[in-house]
Amino acid sequence: MEYQFSLEIIYLIASITYILGLKMLGNPETARRGNLIAAGGMTIAILGTIFLYNGEIPTLIYSLIGIAILLGTLIGWLVAKKVAMTKMPELVSIFNGMGGASAALIGLIEFHHYNGETLSIITILAGIIIGSISFSGSMIAWAKLNGTINKPFRFPKYNLVNNLIFIVLILFSAYIAWSGSSSQLYLYILFFGALAYGVLFVLPIGGADMPVVISLLNSFTGLAAALGGFLYGNMVMLTGGILVGSAGTILTFAMCNAMNRSLVNVIFGGFGDTDLTTGEGSSTIKGSVKKASVSDVAILMNYSQRVIIVPGYGLAVAQAQHAIHELEQLLEKKGIEVKYAIHPVAGRMPGHMNVLLAETSVEYEKLAEMEDVNPEFANTDVVLVIGANDVVNPAAHNDPSSPIYGMPILDVENAKQIIINKRSMKPGYAGIENELFFNQKTSMLFGDAKAIIQSLISELKGM
Ligand code: TAP
Repeated sequence: MEYQFSLEIIYLIASITYILGLKMLGNPETARRGNLIAAGGMTIAILGTIFLYNGEIPTLIYSLIGIAILLGTLIGWLVAKKVAMTKMPELVSIFNGMGGASAALIGLIEFHHYNGETLSIITILAGIIIGSISFSGSMIAWAKLNGTINKPFRFPKYNLVNNLIFIVLILFSAYIAWSGSSSQLYLYILFFGALAYGVLFVLPIGGADMPVVISLLNSFTGLAAALGGFLYGNMVMLTGGILVGSAGTILTFAMCNAMNRSLVNVIFGGFGDTDLTTGEGSSTIKGSVKKASVSDVAILMNYSQRVIIVPGYGLAVAQAQHAIHELEQLLEKKGIEVKYAIHPVAGRMPGHMNVLLAETSVEYEKLAEMEDVNPEFANTDVVLVIGANDVVNPAAHNDPSSPIYGMPILDVENAKQIIINKRSMKPGYAGIENELFFNQKTSMLFGDAKAIIQSLISELKGM
């Protein structure tokens, strides 16, 4: 009884740390601390569950739990330490898949312990279905992101087939619950059926939409964990699951809003396959491209009053965040006003550019959000686009046939001069061409972002 009470207190403290941590993640200045606080809460919740458990745990089980925790901590630590920022969505996808798998495995093991308790059985079956979908879907998302699966898979009438499979899964689980069946075979049919549905659900979705899919699957995992918490009457599992589920759902819709697309369009639209399959784009835009040299751009910047830098995925790939910060400081020293224009889906994950620039201690006031900075481009002498493409593509305004039509973009074409740095004329993640490159005011500065910025710095220092 005493044990139970202290465990409840520990769970309460842990739940508070999750809420606090999540709140602190909303600001780059407090995010790191917030993450540590929530991780601390999770640690005491795990230790409390193991050591204050109100029953007998054989020594062998304690040893197995210890080994699993040690192995998990070691692998998680090493992988998270080594992963590149650009590979973060893949890592999130794998970690999320593991959460879904755990929820499904709990259901498979607990099914027989709750025989005849219909509500608990419904909870368990829902946990198996949602957890399995989340696991297999996350694995496909991971494979799509890292290019292992680089072709779109669309079977004839795949929407209809997928919806039918889902309905069959629900009807079948309703049958298991209401018949009171304890058939192991039925349980495994449901488990493998849900795994197959997870694969079929994600396979037809376009590569460019994988971050949205991962966020959606993340909310599924949260829901599956919350169902586990409901089953065990475990408050901390319930709170954690609900927080993950709701945060994942909010993030999913925030990303859809930033691209001006509905979730239905993301799931059924097949957006972004072109880029992942070929990496090239056929040129349909007529016009010529003007190339600039590093010294041309350095001169242009040296005589400017206002410069806006637009960072994109290429900045992250090139790891050019420190170089761009140095360039910004150098320009400021010369009396030039510099700002960064941050598009909400620049890069490959939410807040990608903010995190990258925060790493180099860029002042937060210098990071301007899209709605605030868009009216300022008209008064800007030079806009320097570094490794960004889709987020500055005017097709979003002008071309109703474009897959990004309607997506809010950074209106860089209103600036007096536009400098675009990238390595080639290849398209961005959406796999479409960009007419901005052919604009009269645009000069292309080809090369790797880091090398180009470093050369710009050297040129500017000599002026
Ligand atoms: P992208 O449109 O993907 O363009 C990035 C550009 O960087 C490429 O065109 C590439 O051209 C260039 N690049 C790559 N490596 C480079 C290097 N080392 N040096 C210089 N340039 C380099 O990126 P974006 O403008 O940031 O847009 C993000 C895209 O991801 C959008 O389509 C968005 O919808 C999608 N997306 C993002 C999110 C989130 S939450 N961020 C979620 C879902 C989807 P070269 O190959 O010619 O160099």
